[in-house]
Amino acid sequence: MAKPVKITETIFRDAHQSLWATRMKTEDMMAIAEAIDDIGYHSLEAWGGATFDSCLRFLKEDPWVRLRRLKAVIRKTPLQMLLRGQNLLGYRHYPDDVVREFCHRAVDNGIGIIRIFDALNDVRNMETAVKASKEAGAHVQGTVVYTISPVHDIDAYVKLALELKELGCDSICIKDMAGLLTPYRAEELVKKLKQAVNLPLQLHAHYTSGLASMTYLKAIEAGVDVVDTAFSALALGTSQPPTESLVAALQGTPYDTGLDLAKLAPINQHFKEVKKEYQSVSAPVEVDTAVLSYQIPGGMISNLRNQLAGQNASDRYADVLAEVPKVREELGYPPLVTPTSQMLGTQAVLNVLTGKRYSVVPKEIKEYVRGMYGRPPAPINPEVRKLIIGDEQPITHRPADDLEPMLGKARKEIIEYYQQEEDVLSYVLFPEVALEFFKTRNSNCK
Ligand code: CO
Repeated sequence: MAKPVKITETIFRDAHQSLWATRMKTEDMMAIAEAIDDIGYHSLEAWGGATFDSCLRFLKEDPWVRLRRLKAVIRKTPLQMLLRGQNLLGYRHYPDDVVREFCHRAVDNGIGIIRIFDALNDVRNMETAVKASKEAGAHVQGTVVYTISPVHDIDAYVKLALELKELGCDSICIKDMAGLLTPYRAEELVKKLKQAVNLPLQLHAHYTSGLASMTYLKAIEAGVDVVDTAFSALALGTSQPPTESLVAALQGTPYDTGLDLAKLAPINQHFKEVKKEYQSVSAPVEVDTAVLSYQIPGGMISNLRNQLAGQNASDRYADVLAEVPKVREELGYPPLVTPTSQMLGTQAVLNVLTGKRYSVVPKEIKEYVRGMYGRPPAPINPEVRKLIIGDEQPITHRPADDLEPMLGKARKEIIEYYQQEEDVLSYVLFPEVALEFFKTRNSNCK
């Protein structure tokens, strides 16, 4: 019986976020957007993740304008985005008024599918975003962030997926940001999730460890409905498996995607051409097996290397690699994904360079230990907790319950630059960066 596999193309979001430091310019997207729309993808991931920050900070582009321009030419394929639950596209928790407004504006500007995750798999941090996105009319995909630890077994993932279904999610994504999911583990996970949850199931993996294409194949045989791939010009390494290879692998089988290799080729050629302009920001495309021993995602590895190089301490790299899993265990096994990956990485570097573990602790880690990012997957080591926050008691309620509404005040603060309601959201997420952007935008208009 035919069971065509559907494909989400990640070229406009995760692929360049993973390989080109999120620097792809809107013009390089627009030049090929209509051709991509003709391929017949399930969806095109084109917004969210780090793209919003990168647009404002580095490209001096308005991310909202990018979204509207893409939507104007991509009329058949749903545009998909990645959202970090209560963190939206930033690195901290935002109050509910901001989360609700953001989800509504994203949909109003053209997003059809919103994939929502929380770094700690804490459903309370996804609740407001899920409900608001549903209300706005999006297809809402709830996410199970995949990691390996003594407390992350398949039953825990099934329980989480059932909670997401209960919240109203339309489909479930397994997010393997570090490339840790092995083929046979994927087979088991997909089978159990399909059986217990009975919602469309999507798999998102990174090629970092060299496993992802094999993992996709076993997941497909086990019944996964959609997988994420990227054009080969921007695939492999820390990005997704190549689209064309998967299409070819499934041709003539019950899983045939129905996509046309002859139509994919010229689009890939476009990205091969524009690739030359992005050489200075390109990450190496290689298999990094450190992830299999240390569970450190590719993006985090390059961050650690940069942090050490900045301190003239590149020779401590091996010590830091060994320190990360220790810190992770002591802090309750959080999955290593934005923002926890950066936070734990910094703590590991500090523990190694100071020579006295937890003698210097960044604000973010203190807040994490206070419960302000949500519930860690396992209890935090009591001795380490004491080193970090002393006798203070962590909160146990939903972190955003403590946050005051922000929109009204923010709107007043940017009144002289205000051009559209979306500006308020850009400003709330990235205050300094957005202000800087508004100033250049306004001077360009004069
Ligand atoms: Co990803």
